[in-house]
Amino acid sequence: LWSEMPMGPADPILGLTDAFNKDTNPNKVSLGVGAYRGDNGKPFVLDSVRKAEKLVLDKSLNHEYAGIAGVPDFTKLSLAFAYGKDSPALTENRVAGVQTLSGTGACRVMGELFARFRGTGSAIYVPNPTWGNHIPIFKNAGLEVKKYRYFDPETVGLDFEGLISDVQAAEDESVFLLHACAHNPTGIDPSQDQWAELSKVMKSKKHTAFFDCAYQGFASGDAELDAWAIRRFVADGHCIALAQSFAKNFGLYGQRIGALSVVCNDAEEAERVGSQIKIVIRPMYSNPPVHGARLVAEILSDEALSQEWSGECKAMADRIIAMRTALRGHLEGLKSGRSWEHITDQIGMFCYTGLTQEEVLKVREDSHIYFTNDGRISMAGITTANVKYVAKSIYAVTG
Ligand code: LMR
Repeated sequence: LWSEMPMGPADPILGLTDAFNKDTNPNKVSLGVGAYRGDNGKPFVLDSVRKAEKLVLDKSLNHEYAGIAGVPDFTKLSLAFAYGKDSPALTENRVAGVQTLSGTGACRVMGELFARFRGTGSAIYVPNPTWGNHIPIFKNAGLEVKKYRYFDPETVGLDFEGLISDVQAAEDESVFLLHACAHNPTGIDPSQDQWAELSKVMKSKKHTAFFDCAYQGFASGDAELDAWAIRRFVADGHCIALAQSFAKNFGLYGQRIGALSVVCNDAEEAERVGSQIKIVIRPMYSNPPVHGARLVAEILSDEALSQEWSGECKAMADRIIAMRTALRGHLEGLKSGRSWEHITDQIGMFCYTGLTQEEVLKVREDSHIYFTNDGRISMAGITTANVKYVAKSIYAVTG
């Protein structure tokens, strides 16, 4: 069996980290995977997380299995974080929620649930473009992945008309994946008015909105503001599904901490949906790891630690915003013939540069700067020390 097995291609995002690690050039820069770095270019552990680690350690907890649905305190706090502490959906106990293996795991479990109850091969609409991994996640779950218009290369902005007309044209009761904030890879989000309009149109079509929320707090620096679209849809009466990740905003990448929830019409329905989610999870990975969930729960249950986390999350968002300004400034200073306004217009971890694949590969070859072939750069990897080099390298290829 193994002798016949062909070599598989490297992952378009994570494969870049391997290539970067092998590169011996001293000037190399990693702007591939979306993982925050401090201005020293090093992985960053939040002080609030360090404190939570100590608190958890001091409790000398055991290492028993969590239930299939994970650490209950974590899930409860995670849902309050997204839907809002006073969300009627939560107080009415009509949200089914479980801990998952970060956002990826939440998407995969939800994909399976859709395939199981809407039929294998039923469609999920994702934005064009979307996070590269969404497509295999939903395909592997048994869904057909269809794309809706999102990015307009002409304006380097949102194609809102295209989006709305694709939502209108889809069969009633379709499933739409929406990025809750800081769209990956484009960094372009609908405005609040556009979200409200989208909610209205989706309601009239009886579509199901499935939000992927990987950047709450990280997009604007304000976790409440970043949850705006989610809360608006719920307030408008949508029974949304929601994938949450705590990788970026809490810097807990390797802990694989996330949650999946489904807003239901009533508490009894939520019980039923929750039971089916657990049936999907059990043969997949039995139950999730507990440590990272305990850390998030420690922070979100403690007012002072939550405040500290919020300040740190904002500081990460602010450093990225400062790097956007610096990168654009350097490119403009070089008298580049292209407009780089979108670097500062876009939000979140990524900048969708508009570079073609050929240009991306040339920057990689000439300057040892690694970012994805679609021209997405992780702003989190840009620092005061490398921003000029990155700008010069991009300029050298794009003019
Ligand atoms: C990214 O888009 O770079 C991140 O979400 C990390 C990943 O798993 O792809």
